[in-house]
Amino acid sequence: MLSAAAAERNKEPILAVLLENVNTGRPLRALEVSSGTGQHVTHFAQALRNVMWQPSEYDRQSLASIEAYRARYQLNNVMPAIYLDASLPHQYWGGVQPETMDLVVNINMIHISPMACTEGLFTGAGAVLKPRGLLLTYGPYAVNGQITPQSNIEFDYSLRQRNPEWGLRDISFLCALAQRNGLFLEKMVDMPANNKCLLFRKESLV
Ligand SMILES: C[S@@+](CC[C@H](N)C(=O)[O-])C[C@H]1O[C@@H](n2cnc3c(N)ncnc32)[C@H](O)[C@@H]1O
Repeated sequence: MLSAAAAERNKEPILAVLLENVNTGRPLRALEVSSGTGQHVTHFAQALRNVMWQPSEYDRQSLASIEAYRARYQLNNVMPAIYLDASLPHQYWGGVQPETMDLVVNINMIHISPMACTEGLFTGAGAVLKPRGLLLTYGPYAVNGQITPQSNIEFDYSLRQRNPEWGLRDISFLCALAQRNGLFLEKMVDMPANNKCLLFRKESLV
């Protein structure tokens, strides 16, 4: 069981956003893209028992950690983790079928992966979400070309030093990407430590 300090800090505030925005009264299906250690999915699954959670990862060590969390918590609403490369089309997303998910969750991946992952996330979410389904992303973002405060400017710089393909993405860019994939930004929630939750809703067909 790997443990990430950031996941431990942000799992409760993100759960609060989920509880406010997800129906707890009927069976739902959720896909977590880039689950990391498995801390988030097992935390969310304990509070949202009506949701069947599908964790996924790209990193083999993380996949093993998610399985260790599943074994530890024995939750009947967390499926075995699947290998999922967010940069690939949804047809390669471990058998996740189109329009089967009520919720797609993605935490702290967008700025720590190449742009192809962000593009793949929005394209894939547009495909696998049911009409009116929700994509929740969490992390630090730029707003209208501005990164604030100074600590996020420095974080962005350090990410780009580590990998020129990484870095904070602009919310207006994400909105345009969402729109191309049948999603729209419904809500933006300020979170602790200068992060945000972005909630994108899939357009209904009618
Ligand atoms: C900072 S970690 C966040 C993990 C977890 N969501 C959390 O908040 O603890 C970034 C994650 O992005 C994942 N990642 C990198 N490239 C990816 C890809 N092509 N497809 C899916 N996930 C990817 C990494 O494996 C890693 O788990």
